[in-house]
Amino acid sequence: MNSLLEQIKQAFAEALTKIDPSLKDTDPMIRLTTDRKFGDYQSNVAMGLAKKLKKNPREVAQQVIDALDVADMCEKTDIAGPGFINVFLRPSYLAQTLAGLNTDDHLGVAQTQQPLHHIIDFSSPNLAKEMHVGHLRTTITGEVIARVIEFMGHTIERVNHVGDWGTQFGMLLQYIFENHPEVLENPDAFHVKDLETFYKKAKKNFDENDVFATEARKKVVLLQSEDPTAMTVWKAFVKESLRHCHEIYDLLDVSLTDIGESFYNTKLPGVVSELKENNMACEDKGAVCVFLDGFTNREGDPLPMIIQKTDGGYNYDTTDLAAIKYRIQDCGGKRLIYVTDIRQAQHFTMLFVAARKAGWATQDVILDHVGYGMVLGSDRKPFKTRDGGTVRLRDLIEEGVARAKAMITENREGAQLERVQSFSEEKINNIANAVGLAAIKYSDLSHNLASDYVFSWDKMLAMDGNTGPYMLYAYARIRSIGRKGGVDFDHLPKETPMILEHPAELALAKILVRFSDVVANVIKELKPNLLTDYLYSVSKGFSSFYDKKLGVSVLDAESDDLKMSRLLLCSLTAKTLKAGLYLLGITVVEEM
Ligand code: ARG
Repeated sequence: MNSLLEQIKQAFAEALTKIDPSLKDTDPMIRLTTDRKFGDYQSNVAMGLAKKLKKNPREVAQQVIDALDVADMCEKTDIAGPGFINVFLRPSYLAQTLAGLNTDDHLGVAQTQQPLHHIIDFSSPNLAKEMHVGHLRTTITGEVIARVIEFMGHTIERVNHVGDWGTQFGMLLQYIFENHPEVLENPDAFHVKDLETFYKKAKKNFDENDVFATEARKKVVLLQSEDPTAMTVWKAFVKESLRHCHEIYDLLDVSLTDIGESFYNTKLPGVVSELKENNMACEDKGAVCVFLDGFTNREGDPLPMIIQKTDGGYNYDTTDLAAIKYRIQDCGGKRLIYVTDIRQAQHFTMLFVAARKAGWATQDVILDHVGYGMVLGSDRKPFKTRDGGTVRLRDLIEEGVARAKAMITENREGAQLERVQSFSEEKINNIANAVGLAAIKYSDLSHNLASDYVFSWDKMLAMDGNTGPYMLYAYARIRSIGRKGGVDFDHLPKETPMILEHPAELALAKILVRFSDVVANVIKELKPNLLTDYLYSVSKGFSSFYDKKLGVSVLDAESDDLKMSRLLLCSLTAKTLKAGLYLLGITVVEEM
């Protein structure tokens, strides 16, 4: 089923073709009106066409309206200002559309006719350290994009491209060899916390001591030669680090398959020689470099991708080249998405240009980098603990849940207090878990991805406004209407006619029919905040609908038909919130 917007677009496309067959593929430029006075949707197409058709825009607009066949969908169309075409939806058509959504598990999101194989690379931390707040955005944003892609019927691989190789492991090994030979006896006995301590000390030595640094680089070579002792320690450390990562992924309800950098080791020499053979790579001062047109450094000199260092070693770029080739040629990826810190934008731009030039990424392959900004503290500097340390993700999640629990159980009075007191400890913990995670995730996802944002517990835990807890509350409140009225939302008679008369009913209906358009936009623009904004408008639409003064009564509606119709609106609102929150990686609770 096409969304209402899609149907209107199609009707416009047909009208334009009628006017002039050469206009067949003209974008009708339809968007939501900002002011409902001007109808529900508005087309700007006439302004763009006026020159081409040698007419004034209002004349063109009239011509389009004359050719437009939307009588079933629209109550009226009119021309405003210089030539905007305003479209007013017909309530009966809205009602019919809503009835269709009610029986559709995908709420109007059409299952794609052309499933594309997607591969999304997200989270992808460097190992031997605990996951910290710097990994939050990639991990939860990647999960959202993956869920939306799946929801539309595409196939997807979720890849954790962990940093499990290279200099950092050379450093670690050198440090262990020098200072902790006991580790070599039983490397499995160590916890990620120990690894992090080793790592910090190793890094300090590496930065301050040239002899150590040289030895550390030699350890990378030792690893590359598959020296048994080095391999045993490496394997144990990788295993322990990944165990820790997956503990965090489980807490966050995120799923990922680990295919670390080391997986590509055997493919690196081949990639370098292939790029040399097709003249993309050349030697420059002892290193092998790929120079791409248009990339320069600050001084204006050509900026190469270094794919083999002077000592013969490979690096991040080489691994990403091997990975992109593998994902396209061996895994059949047709759209590759990478979610990383925005500071890596240039790396990915160059990677994509190189992959196209090498002929791996053919025309039909879509390549996207999704860059995100930093999480800042209230001082607007990178978010740190009070004593200046890194904020561990585990601590962050635990604190969020603890704060949510306090919020649910404290400062409650009257009926609310009674209700919470009737909950079992287990139920309270479940709610706290859902609310705490919803707060963290929703707040992160509702910010513009490319910008930095300031982390604030108070803001994200607020019970009103565009927050996770508020969304969960809105959902639970709607579900409670069903419970109060003794009706099961999930089994309302499907043939219930929808009655849309009151302005608040109409307004809510017009929001609900847009779900599939929003989902499609999220995946087109790769912006989760389009969905948080939409869900917020759903909850606001519902609040006005249910408002004692401005809205309508549901359980005490004037007639049984009205009551049923309004219950159906409630149920559809709840379904929309639940589905939208699911796509955001957020689990709802029935009561809170
Ligand atoms: N490990 C990298 C980091 O922590 C992110 C890797 C992203 N994926 C990739 N294919 N480069 O910055």
